[in-house]
Amino acid sequence: MTRPGRATPAESIVAWLRAANAPVSGEELARRLGCTRAAVWKHVVALRAQGYDIAASRTDGYTLAAAPDRLGPAELAPHLTGGWRDVRWFAETDSTQRVARELARDGAAEGTIVVAEAQTAGRGRLGRTWHSPAGRNLYCSIVLRPQVVPADVPQVALVLGLAVADALATIPGLAPRIKWPNDVLLDGRKVAGILTEMDAEVERVHHVIAGIGVNLNATRSAFPPELRAKATSVRLATGRPVDRAELTGRLLASVEARYGRFVGGGFARLAAEWESYSCLTGTEVRVVSPAGEVAGRVLGLDPAGALRLRLPDGALHRIVAGEVTVRDGYRG
Ligand code: BTN
Repeated sequence: MTRPGRATPAESIVAWLRAANAPVSGEELARRLGCTRAAVWKHVVALRAQGYDIAASRTDGYTLAAAPDRLGPAELAPHLTGGWRDVRWFAETDSTQRVARELARDGAAEGTIVVAEAQTAGRGRLGRTWHSPAGRNLYCSIVLRPQVVPADVPQVALVLGLAVADALATIPGLAPRIKWPNDVLLDGRKVAGILTEMDAEVERVHHVIAGIGVNLNATRSAFPPELRAKATSVRLATGRPVDRAELTGRLLASVEARYGRFVGGGFARLAAEWESYSCLTGTEVRVVSPAGEVAGRVLGLDPAGALRLRLPDGALHRIVAGEVTVRDGYRG
């Protein structure tokens, strides 16, 4: 068996013990790693210090009894099913967006994923902050290199929102909705947000950094008081904790699949699926955008992903960017 790509010796040991689901001898691990049994033991000691419960028996070898609740490469590896496998993990960083952007500028491949357990300066849309407490949620940024014109990049954000909603919809009891452009809601409260940032010339996109924040196991008290009425988590919505690594794997597969469809055929291929999650179609909204403020009834999306509004005077209006507030009582 070969070592998983880019994995450290310690990550490989975890992956092998997990896959074996039975004791693996120190001699066998040493053979696979090309090191001594003493070196294997040192890795095991280091892994235990990181929270891995690894039992050691002189006769049988090593057994993985429990892994820490973390979203590192070793924890995610068993749940990654797509082609995106390069995961850069941080116990804490300022913002995964910043890290991913630097990696992209240094030539990181499409699909490179940056994950952090905590962010000290998590960023949201429109200059807001993204509350990012440690070890409970998902904070990740993905390097994308879509061959589209800059004007079409907002569609990437729609695709990501759809992918997140679809991954959450696989959890029994959850009925996620999307509030245009890409807030994902559960029971009318925000559970996930998407931030897309790009490096581009007028006609060419160098890269897009797709930031995804999902509240997974946050309890009510983990939110600051001003967010408690507006935000929720998967745990709050279902009443039970979620396996973060497993859900992250499912979410990344959903993102990769939908992004692939977008790159291959444009947003029009995903518009109907997106509409099926929309909580705005048919509602009266007010939209604040750089172009000013308008109110009207949402008719849906156009093939390019813009929001179509019917204004009170009957005119049709197209919104490409802005902040939407629902006027008939839906909490958004
Ligand atoms: C929003 O305002 O709805 C967008 C929130 C996006 C948050 C994510 S968390 C991972 C990535 N890193 C950041 O600093 N922000 C995004």
